[in-house]
Amino acid sequence: MSYPSGRHFLQIPGPTNVPDRVLRAMDMPTRDHRGPDFPALTHEILDGLKAVFKTTADVVIYPSSGTGAWESALVNTLSPGDRVLMFETGQFATLWRGIATDLGLEVEFVAGDWRHGVDPTAVEARLSEDSRHTIKAVAVVHNETSTGVTSRIGEIRRAIDNAGHPALLLVDTISSLGSIDYRHDEWGVDVTVAGSQKGLMLPPGLSFNAISARALAASETSALPAAYWRWQPMLDNNAKGYFPYTPATNLLYALREALAMLHEEGLEQVFARHRRHGEATRRAVRAWGLEILCANPEEYSDALTAVLVPDGQDADRLRELILERHNMSLGTGLGKLQGRVFRIGHLGDFNDLMLAGTLCGVEMGLIAAGMPFTRGGVDAALAYLAGEE
Ligand SMILES: Cc1ncc(COP(=O)(O)O)c(C=O)c1O
Repeated sequence: MSYPSGRHFLQIPGPTNVPDRVLRAMDMPTRDHRGPDFPALTHEILDGLKAVFKTTADVVIYPSSGTGAWESALVNTLSPGDRVLMFETGQFATLWRGIATDLGLEVEFVAGDWRHGVDPTAVEARLSEDSRHTIKAVAVVHNETSTGVTSRIGEIRRAIDNAGHPALLLVDTISSLGSIDYRHDEWGVDVTVAGSQKGLMLPPGLSFNAISARALAASETSALPAAYWRWQPMLDNNAKGYFPYTPATNLLYALREALAMLHEEGLEQVFARHRRHGEATRRAVRAWGLEILCANPEEYSDALTAVLVPDGQDADRLRELILERHNMSLGTGLGKLQGRVFRIGHLGDFNDLMLAGTLCGVEMGLIAAGMPFTRGGVDAALAYLAGEE
């Protein structure tokens, strides 16, 4: 093993590269989380977070991976045997379904081809049939990290309203918050689930729920067993600037810094930057003559692009070769996409030259792997980034 000079290119769709400013903010002595100066930190972070969720409602922070926040959204709002409508958009929707089933919920899982997002007309049709309102919640993954497909939450909200159905809307934004436009209040979302390690530019280890007034009311009567995840003790403590158990103190310093960075750049600029990098990446993929997994251009993800390799080729061998030769990690194909796709992460603390380097690494890898493809994807992306249209 020789020393790999230069920086590792971490271009998986999360965890993402943590900016130096955030790393430095974490490199601090731990503080007394029950001390007098802790509330100022808690309040500053909660205010900054609400702006990112585009909500004035409550947001809670857990010391956990995103999976914990999935579980929390379910156990706080639902009761054993409640019916939940979910959609097979990919691996993460499938995993969330598994958690709901394990908790004793009745999941109606609408089959999908892992190339499309949730179809709002299917939501409306299914909810319209449910005249007795047996469906208690609709749970959707906003940005399916396994496929690079972004579901249209605003349209799904309208579909629920058109059906005149009272189901709660639960949305996973683990790989979209802080990189793709998201509006908790405007879209009438009841629980938004998020995680620290993607658009928020932090290490893994924090997760979040943004909670509507309706969801909070549901938590008063929900009967699924819950203790660690209960919202109310968290909200009661947060109101005073504290937590019901030990918070991940140094990750909170990091979060404060990351929120400052997002707000300095401006959320709309952050989203525009991701859109531009998504578009440049897609132009590269098309020029290579490869197929973008997402089949509906309206649902292209601006956080990552999943690329299908030609039949008979092995996407994991390509990834291994790129790692070995160019010290770059790309996302593997998950679940049934194993070996069929590689995923290029273009989210988080990222700029034009990092994208150019990433695409160069992919193109060199395609050459070295002997993949059937057309050279010139990098040129197409550079022309776009340079403003040549
Ligand atoms: C969309 C989505 N949901 C849920 C998860 C699970 O989060 P975690 O691995 O932090 O538990 C991930 C992880 O990548 C994800 O991308």
